[in-house]
Amino acid sequence: MAKYDNNFVDELRARLSIVDIVGRRVPLQKKGQNYWGCCPFHNEKTPSFSVTEEKGFYHCFGCGAHGDIISFVMNTEHLEYPAAIRELADLAGLKMPEYKPKSPEKVAAEESYIDICERATREYQKLLFTDAGHDALDYIRGRGFTDDMIKKYRIGYAPKNSLITGTFTDIKQNNLLATGLVRRGEYGMYDFFRHKLMFPIFDAKGKVIAFSGRSLDGSEPKYINTTDTELFHKRMTIFGFNFARDEIYKKNRSIVVEGQIDAIQMQVHGFGETVAPLGTALTEDHIAILCKSNRNIIFCFDGDGAGNKAAVRACSIVLPFIRDNSNVRFAFVSGGKDPDEVLKTGGAPAMQKIIDDAMSLIDFLWQIANTNYLVKTPGGRVQAEKFLDTELKKIQDKKLQFEIEQEYKKRAFNEWRSWKKVDAPKIKLPDTDLVTKNTLVYIVNNFPDIASQYADFLATLNISFDETAPDLGWEYKAAEKFIVSLKLQRYRAALEQELKIKMQGMINGENYTNEELTDIKKKITEINEKLEKLLYID
Ligand code: UTP
Ligand code: MN
Repeated sequence: MAKYDNNFVDELRARLSIVDIVGRRVPLQKKGQNYWGCCPFHNEKTPSFSVTEEKGFYHCFGCGAHGDIISFVMNTEHLEYPAAIRELADLAGLKMPEYKPKSPEKVAAEESYIDICERATREYQKLLFTDAGHDALDYIRGRGFTDDMIKKYRIGYAPKNSLITGTFTDIKQNNLLATGLVRRGEYGMYDFFRHKLMFPIFDAKGKVIAFSGRSLDGSEPKYINTTDTELFHKRMTIFGFNFARDEIYKKNRSIVVEGQIDAIQMQVHGFGETVAPLGTALTEDHIAILCKSNRNIIFCFDGDGAGNKAAVRACSIVLPFIRDNSNVRFAFVSGGKDPDEVLKTGGAPAMQKIIDDAMSLIDFLWQIANTNYLVKTPGGRVQAEKFLDTELKKIQDKKLQFEIEQEYKKRAFNEWRSWKKVDAPKIKLPDTDLVTKNTLVYIVNNFPDIASQYADFLATLNISFDETAPDLGWEYKAAEKFIVSLKLQRYRAALEQELKIKMQGMINGENYTNEELTDIKKKITEINEKLEKLLYID
């Protein structure tokens, strides 16, 4: 059988969650590390079919069925391999590559590119410890890098003259060009990286596939990275992932920082689960790769405008990946610093505190809505609500989406609406008694829908809803009935007072028509009828 390009199949596996794919057909429940359900391949009543997200496969302890997303789709939908791939590509939002096997030439070529990158890495490493690399070495040591770190991350120096072009003369020019290390210019070939501090970029297996070079003389841009090549796809590569992989497993979370130096410093200061995107904003692919290990991510961005923008973006693209057991949080390094500086000045404890104080995804999204829109105005509130709606729609677990929606409704009531000053009722009503007040606080905190529907009425009561109340364990209906009946009673009390005042007024010679009084009486009767009816609804 002809095979698709392995890269493409790997990309599918990286993008899609097996728990989602299987979950479309088999209800799954998480128990321990795995998900369990009733096997779709044999008849059973007690679940013996397990799905492991991290490893990307399913296994049935009853009938022995075993496989990955591709075999699952093939076997449950009775599809051939190409059709299964096509369906999965659709789900992943990926375009199908041409249906052609990776040629032996291509495999050989890729291997030779890796060999070139490896050889370049070694040359750069050597040069860092020569006279030519003196300034670079000084610089990186000044940034707190020990020799062990320099060795582990294979940091090197690309000289001012063209090293690769000049000395890799035994290799075909086209192969050198394909690695992105050299370029062809008007005056012939030249090295892309010159006079740079060199950070190799590793693939997940630890092979060097590209480089990031930092300028040493203050010239801009500060970093240049290998542009995309056959080996290196920036949007799918996460700096530090090869080193962080095991720790991401062990700690059951990952930390994402902005810069590669930050990632390295974090890793050596006890936050081995840290990675960084590469010279681009974070992409869905980056998140998909991290989510294969677990869905617990702490984004730790610089406390400046760019960091905030990156966090907003991260928030928006992480939403489709969250599940009911995800823990996604946002930490900010304040004072225009980055994690590297925090570690230098306050050490690991300072960083730990920043991580511990990280904001939940729900709080962060709420904060974005509140800072980006004028929630003190009705229009701004509508815009904020629309924004939140759009974002929440990205959550795939509908129950989770609903729960968060309810939470936001509650906040919208408490934070946006309850401050709203409604015209004081013309007639002074007695204060709400404690039992009624507690009941209302309970309702507002547990039934955000009701709270927002009756927001105007509730605001007239002058109660602080920012408190806790005993749990009454009510159903939605009971809560709604309580509010409706209270509203009617209040209205009746107001009308009764009005009636009393007007009747008094008539005695005192004021001019009220009988119709006016009859009208009020009619309204009171109507309310009584409504209240009566309400008694019989359940
Ligand atoms: P920063 O400017 O925050 O880098 O950019 P940094 O790591 O703090 O730089 P140092 O500490 O001064 O060395 C964050 C990341 O964005 C990419 C790099 O990957 C960098 O690590 N970047 C930044 C570029 O690709 N090009 C640039 O010109 C600047
Ligand atoms: Mn920095």
